[in-house]
Parts: sequence; structure tokens; C-alpha cells
Amino acid sequence: MVLNKKLLVLPGDGIGPEVMREAGRVVGWLGRRRGISFDISEDLVGGASIDAHGVPIRDEVVEAALASDAVLFGAVGGPQWDKVPFGNRPEVAILRLRQELGLFANLRPATVLDPLVDSSTLKPEVVRGLDIMIVRETVGGIYFGEPRGIETLPDGSRRGVNTEVYTTSEIERVARVAFELARRRGNAVCSVEKCNVMESGLLWRQVVTALHARDYPDVALTHMLADNCAMQLVRNPRQFDVIVTGNLFGDLLSDLASMLTGSLGMLPSATLGTLRPDGRRPALYEPIHGSAPDIAGLGQANPLAQILSLAMLLRYSFGLDEEARLVEQACVNVLGTGLRTADIMSPGKARVGTVVMGEAVLRELDKLVA
Ligand code: IPM
Ligand code: MG
Repeated sequence: MVLNKKLLVLPGDGIGPEVMREAGRVVGWLGRRRGISFDISEDLVGGASIDAHGVPIRDEVVEAALASDAVLFGAVGGPQWDKVPFGNRPEVAILRLRQELGLFANLRPATVLDPLVDSSTLKPEVVRGLDIMIVRETVGGIYFGEPRGIETLPDGSRRGVNTEVYTTSEIERVARVAFELARRRGNAVCSVEKCNVMESGLLWRQVVTALHARDYPDVALTHMLADNCAMQLVRNPRQFDVIVTGNLFGDLLSDLASMLTGSLGMLPSATLGTLRPDGRRPALYEPIHGSAPDIAGLGQANPLAQILSLAMLLRYSFGLDEEARLVEQACVNVLGTGLRTADIMSPGKARVGTVVMGEAVLRELDKLVA
């Protein structure tokens, strides 16, 4: 089965290229063992692109992303680029891709795989079986709201400004994604804002409530203030199924939720845009972990989040549910054999590096289809 689907691969900085190489092997395996091949191109983003081209992402790369069926992204950033001007920093690459591709719904799962239940800093009885999906809005809110900037006041002191803004349609489209997802999972959505202090949060609550009554009355809907949600995530995380929230709260809460699982190195994410008339939906897949400059180049990074991001890509962009399940199952099985990268190491397990972990995933894939 040749799909002729265009896949753009953007490894980025730090451990990005190392973990992407292992995801690339899984792509190779899909070609060899399942006859699935993609039309793949690769390019630089982030600090790597700054070094080579002077900008964190070139227009050609944005265009290639717009023309592709899916983007597989690694990670960007590192201390080498701390001094580049704010508007040209490595993170601009991902922000620009989100904006120009209209990637408004960021799906961030926090699941505790059984073999890793002891890696969490929380007690096993609190996190066992955890399966949360955070749907974070990613092209609006305070990340992009105007006015923004730093100005000098008449008295010579300075003032920094960012603005939290949400419109009805921005809230509705991301809430829809959350309700639709909930129907295929635990059928419960918790909508999160700070309507006690922010008008944008009050509007958020009103719009989600109205949309629910109109189109999704079968889904259980609750509302929670963002600070309480942070507390509840640590106190009793299994009360949640799908959480939907704005850009900044989603950034914070998804990092918090990911740590419940014991390792950022395990978690993938998908960011989806609007379905286009030609039937394509722009989509970008990336691990939740960053570029981890402290361990870059050491061959210690956990490649599983990047590989699981590829699994999400297979499922959401290409409808290859069976292959997605195979890849996910292979990752679980590898952990079942006791192999661990440093980030998820626990007593009695075998510590391995990036490449050995990647090879082990391929071995498990072979076994699954044998
Ligand atoms: C994330 C990251 C990004 C964000 C940065 C790199 C701009 O923290 O994807 O969560 O804040 O959205
Ligand atoms: Mg973040």
C-alpha cells in the first residue's frame, strides 16, 4: 500500500535529531513490513535553522508544511541561542507553524502505562490506569493577543504587556474537538478557565455551556477554575477524562499532567487544524518533551515519545489505526521486557540508550506481526 502522502520531518535541536532517527526506523519498518511508504522530506527548524540560515524557520519550510499531509516535529531550543533577539528565537518555529497552519487544537494525552506505574512521583494507587486527554487551544489567547510588547514610560520605567483574548468561534471550535474526542473515550469534558477574575474566562465558560446544551448534551460537562484544576490533577487525577482549556493554562496543566505519568519522555502530542475543502486536515505531531540540551548528543534520550507521536500521526492523519496500535503496543512491550532509558529508570531494570531502545521497538514490532 503506497499512500503517496507527503510527510514533512523537522527534527530540530538538542535531542530532537536523535529521537527522530529512531522514529525514522519505525517509518522504515512500516515500509518493509507493511508496504506503507510516504513521500518524505526533511528540513531544519529552530536553532539549527538559525545557525544555517539566520532564521528559526524559512518561508520555504512553512510552505512545505502547508503542502504536506502531516508534519512530524522533534524539539527546538537550547542555551546556545539564548542571546538571539526575542522575535527570532528557536521557539518561533513552532509558534509560526501553529499559526500559519491554523493548528488550533493541541491534543496532549497523559496516560500511565502499566509497566511504568512506579516511575511516577505519585503513589501507584493514585495514578494506575490514568488516561487523561488535555485539549489545549494553541493559536489564540495570551500567546498571540494584541496589544503586546515592552514600552518605555515617560518616567523612564518600562511596561510589558500581553493580552488574553478569545472570541466565540475560537472557543467553540476547540470545545467541539474536546466534545467529539470525549464521545470516543470516557464521555466527560472538564472545561478550565479563570472566570472568577478574567472576562475572557467568563466568555469561555458561557460559550462552552451553550455549545454543550446545543450540540453535545449527551457528554458530561463540568467547569473548573485553572488553579483548582492544577490542584485536582495532583490530588485525584483519575477524575478527569478530557480537559479543554486555553493556550496558557493548557501549557501549564499539560506539563503538570505529563509528570503524573512519571516521564515527559513518554508522551506524544498532536496539533490539529481545520478540515480543508480538499479533505485534508493540517496536523503536526511532536513529543511533549523539549530539546533537553543537557543530554543532547549523549545517546541517552528516550525515543518513545517521538515514536508514539508517529503512532498518533498514523491514526489521526492517515487513518492507519492498526499500524498505530502496533507501534503503541510495541512500545508497551519493550517496557514490559524491562528496558529503560535514564528518565524512566527504576531499580532492577536494564538501563539502555536511545538507539538500543529504538532497536528494541523494531524487534517487538517484528514479533507482533510474526
Ligand atoms: C509547548 C512549549 C511551547 C509553548 C514553547 C516551546 C513555545 O512549551 O509546546 O508546550 O509554550 O507552547
Ligand atoms: Mg509547554
